[in-house]
Formats: sequence, C-alpha cells, structure tokens
Amino acid sequence: GQVFDSEKDIFISRERIKPKFMNYEKKLQKYLPEHIFHHLKEIGKISKKLGFSTYLVGGIVRDIVLGKKNLDIDLIVEGDAIKLAKEYAKEKGYPFHTFDEFMTAQITLDTGEKIDLATARKETYTHPGAYPKVEKATIKEDLYRRDFTINTLAIELTEGKFGILIDFFNGLKDIKDKMIRILHQLSFIEDPIRILRALRFAGRLGFRLGKPTEKLLKLAVDENMLDVAPTGRINLELNYSLNEEKVIDILMLMNRYRVLHSLIPEFYMDEKREEILNRLRDTIMSFEMFFDIKIDRVSNYLLALTYHLPFDISYKLLEKYHFSKSVKFFEEYYEVKDILREIPEKDSDLYKKIKFIRKDILVYICASSEIELSERIIKILKKEEEKQLLISGKDLKELGIPPSPLYKKIIDDVFKKYLDDEIRSKKEAFEYVKQRYIQP
Ligand code: CTP
Repeated sequence: GQVFDSEKDIFISRERIKPKFMNYEKKLQKYLPEHIFHHLKEIGKISKKLGFSTYLVGGIVRDIVLGKKNLDIDLIVEGDAIKLAKEYAKEKGYPFHTFDEFMTAQITLDTGEKIDLATARKETYTHPGAYPKVEKATIKEDLYRRDFTINTLAIELTEGKFGILIDFFNGLKDIKDKMIRILHQLSFIEDPIRILRALRFAGRLGFRLGKPTEKLLKLAVDENMLDVAPTGRINLELNYSLNEEKVIDILMLMNRYRVLHSLIPEFYMDEKREEILNRLRDTIMSFEMFFDIKIDRVSNYLLALTYHLPFDISYKLLEKYHFSKSVKFFEEYYEVKDILREIPEKDSDLYKKIKFIRKDILVYICASSEIELSERIIKILKKEEEKQLLISGKDLKELGIPPSPLYKKIIDDVFKKYLDDEIRSKKEAFEYVKQRYIQP
C-alpha cells in the first residue's frame, strides 16, 4: 500500500546508516553529578575485566544531548547485566536486586540513586500491547526495539572506549531537527502505548512527528490500537503526561491526533474546554506557589476532559483506566458543584460556602468559573492564610481578655470583618476588639 511505499526510503535507508562515533566524556562530566560519573567509570572498568561491553542508554542520553538534567541511570550490557551488577554491588557493599527472567538488575548507591542494568536483548511481542518475551542480543538490536530514534542514543562506558556516543539510527540528527520518528513500521502496532509517548515527547520538547511516523500513528489510532493496550500502562502514561509541564501542548496534540476521542466517549474540544484547560494550568501553578501545596493535577485535568459526560459514565472511565484516587475527587466535586449555583454578595458568606472544600477541588472551581468569582475565591483563600497574623489568642490575652471559648468567637468575628474589608489591618483588628469586646 501507499504507506509502505513512502516508508521504504526512511526506514530501510536509516537501517543502512553507518554508526557515527563521537566522544561525550566531557559532556558526561558536565551533566552528571561527580559521584555518578565515577560510578560509571568504575562500572566500565569491571565490564572490561569481565569481557562485556556496557552502555548508558535511553532518556538520559537524549537529555544530555539536549542539555537537560535527568538522573535515570539505565545501562545496557552486552554480556550479562546480572553478573556485572553483582560484581560491582558486592565490591562496594551496595544493596542490589536481580530479576532473572528479565535479565536485569538494580543497584542502590550509598547516596540513594539507583542504577538499572539490563542485558542487551531482543523482544518479541505475542500480541499488540502485551509485555514482551526477551532473548539476548547485541546493543544495536537492543536499541532497534526502542520507541523513537531520539531514544536510541548510547554512550559506551567500557574501559578504553569510555564516553563514545553511538548513534545507529540517526538519533542525533533527529534531536537537532526536532523530530520524533519511530524505527520501524510496526512500532505503534506492537506497542500502542507509543502513540501516547510520541505525543508526550512532541509536546514536552516542542518536536514534530516525522511524516511517516505521523501517518502510522494516525493509522494506529484509526485502528483503535489504544483499545487493546493494557489499561494499567495507559494509566501510567496518562499520569506522566498530565504531570508534564507542557501538559496543555500534549493534550492539544492528543486532541489533534484523535487520541482523546479514542480514550474518552464523545470527546470534543471547543473554546470552553480549551479555556478551562489553560486556566487550570495557571491556577494549579499559583495555588501550588502561594499555598505551598501539591495539587492533584491528574484529577483536575481528567475532570476538564470529561465534564461533558454524566457522572456514571465518567465513573466507569476512571475505573477502566484505574484512576481510583480521582473517583473520590470527582465525587467530592459533584457534591460541591451545586453549592455555588447561587453566589453570595458578601465575601464572608462566600467563605462559609467554600471553607470546607479542599484546595484541589477549589482549583477546578476557580478555573471553570467566571473570572470574577475565581478572583474572589483566591482573595478569600489568601486572607484565610493570613488569619493567624490578624489577631491571635496570645494577642487577646495581652489585651487582658481571660482565655475562654470566647476567643474563637472573637477571632472568627474579626476574620469575617476582614473578609468583608471592614477591617483592613492588624491595627484595625485590635481597635475593633477593644471597642467591641472590652468594656471601658
Ligand atoms: N521505551 C520504548 N517503548 C515504550 C517505553 C519505553 O521503547 N513503550 C524505551 C525508550 O527508548 C526509553 C526507554 O525505554 O528511552 C526508557 O523508558 P522511560 O524511562 O519510560 O523513558 P524516558 O525516555 O526515560 O522518558 P522520561 O524522560 O519521560 O523519563
């Protein structure tokens, strides 16, 4: 068919490209913490001694090329990763785990970071989306089974060759050209999760999809490949995407390539949803900064993506993709949603309505309400944060009021007046308390 003809050039000629070798030792030194750099050097020495070749691979190499921080230390060993890991961990006295059936091992450094080692392997998939079966292979074969060319770069660590960047599939050029490209035609079919990953990387890095890659991604979406992907892996991947800084770009790509339509019944993007998504992003950031808390981003974005659905349908969707934490969030949101159908004029009355709603959910309410209401809520929450500074039990004691349950009443009364701008400062708070609660 047409797709395959246009693919031929790209994939076949790419396979024929001679690997390029460049020395990245200086870059490793620059982008890795000193102690990690030394661990890698020492692992390279042991590797040589055992007759293995060992490489740093995956996202960390891509990020070093991009000049970004990344501390996921993934190593591929041509030879036996478990043997190498045991040798190094025992020499250093570090704890380690081995996973024999996957031919992988993990060492925990004294400083807490983990190093993952895997024996170079080929994978065969029994059916689309399944966890693969593994057998030993060369580094090139190991890299060939990966998702995108930008993730196929490796840096050799073996003593004598330490620091050599290996680029079998033109990953370096694709990073320079800002391109996401798969390595072979069946990539999205073998592993439909890559549909989501392609758009996540494209959004995160501001990259485009290569032409054939784009075509094959669309084809895989049209063929409903996401329906056969394990729901647990979809959950993981969506979690990553919704926690990315460029989440809106990623979601807009997922809309453009009809991935959201594939995951969510009757999904549509319109101006309103786009506005809520953008406001969510800003509101989450300001809440996290101002209140020094972590907002549940995933639940917030999921709600923005599904608000067109009746609750029972959203509920089934959350169950299907294992967003169990979000179920509670949705329930709580639907419970309080109606509370704000009528908006009181006074801020102190508005406060009464919102004070029991947790901030995660208030974020959504702010992002989806009229700007005016949203600003009022934020102003109220900021004032609530300052409540203690206005007047405290200690202050009341110093004013000569004997400790009693009256304290709470006074503090709440002052706060109410503060919310309604009848009291504007600590000084005014004191004056009000003296006048109202202390008889001359
Ligand atoms: N990989 C793949 N197909 C997948 C998932 C992962 O081929 N469905 C490969 C990629 O080549 C990736 C490597 O496994 O580089 C490690 O996966 P992961 O840690 O998820 O990816 P990173 O590239 O490190 O992504 P991130 O920067 O988000 O951590």
